[in-house]
Amino acid sequence: MRSKHGYASGEEISQRLKISRQALWKHIQHLKDSGYEIEAVPHLGYRLRGLPDRLFPSEISSSLTTKLLGKKIYYFEQLHSTMDTAAELARKNAPEGTIVVAESQSKGRGRMGRGWSSPKYKGIYFSLILRPKVLPSQTPVFTLLAAVSACEALKEASGLDVQIKWPNDLLLDNKKIGGILTEISAEPDEVHYLIIGIGINVSSDGKSLPACAISLKEKKAALTSRVELLQELLRRLEANYLQLQKKGPRPVIEKWRQLSLTLGRRVKIDTHSRLIEGEASDIDADGALLLRKDSGLTERITSGDVVHCR
Ligand code: BTN
Repeated sequence: MRSKHGYASGEEISQRLKISRQALWKHIQHLKDSGYEIEAVPHLGYRLRGLPDRLFPSEISSSLTTKLLGKKIYYFEQLHSTMDTAAELARKNAPEGTIVVAESQSKGRGRMGRGWSSPKYKGIYFSLILRPKVLPSQTPVFTLLAAVSACEALKEASGLDVQIKWPNDLLLDNKKIGGILTEISAEPDEVHYLIIGIGINVSSDGKSLPACAISLKEKKAALTSRVELLQELLRRLEANYLQLQKKGPRPVIEKWRQLSLTLGRRVKIDTHSRLIEGEASDIDADGALLLRKDSGLTERITSGDVVHCR
């Protein structure tokens, strides 16, 4: 609520909110404690001078234009992992599009049993619940969809060209700026739910990041706020999800190909049971990497770590 010079009088606000001046004062104190900069000037009223850099649901929801994603937001200062909390909510029938956001995670996890460093207020750590009507074998494309959406959102919000290393590492200058973890609950012929977890390094300092990682701050990205980046992520995820439902996996796979750093390169892949080398020729509709080996044979790789050779 705004008025002359950006001030709104206490009387106007309490009338509008139908609360007493005393209750309003308490709300203002609470907002100040949460990091909102609010100026109070006698005879003029209150003025909002600054927003806190927090992923509060009220901030995410304001001006969020999605119809499905982020309509229900669970927010925590600290969690073990947003993946666990989202799975718990999904088991209790949380609706599709629900997101779980944490300011920090004590047991953030990555692919292949690795951890995901999640320092407080320094990144975006969230999980999204989806309930697509697909077979378990059709779920890998959702990870590709998330990677594509994250690149698009990062480009829009920060102007940076982030690319994807197969299957879903988000790279900037060959260093990891973000990652995606998808976990599913399914029976052989039915997916109950799918949790997509996205982590993005926003403002960590170089010193606190692993050598192979980078943050938007390190890259001096012109990012306004984490809230804006998260809103853009939700918008892109929703647009790509709706397109996938309408048109099938082709468009998202085509976008993934355009953003890929891996395709067309000579790579070594550690599948954790063996090391294979060859040229990454393409991905198939299930998101598997097609590796053309020196023998001329093409192998289909469904999981592993890629090292780009040249
Ligand atoms: C990877 O690159 O290995 C995937 C990293 C995924 C990290 C995100 S942060 C939000 C969500 N919660 C987790 O514990 N992990 C994912």
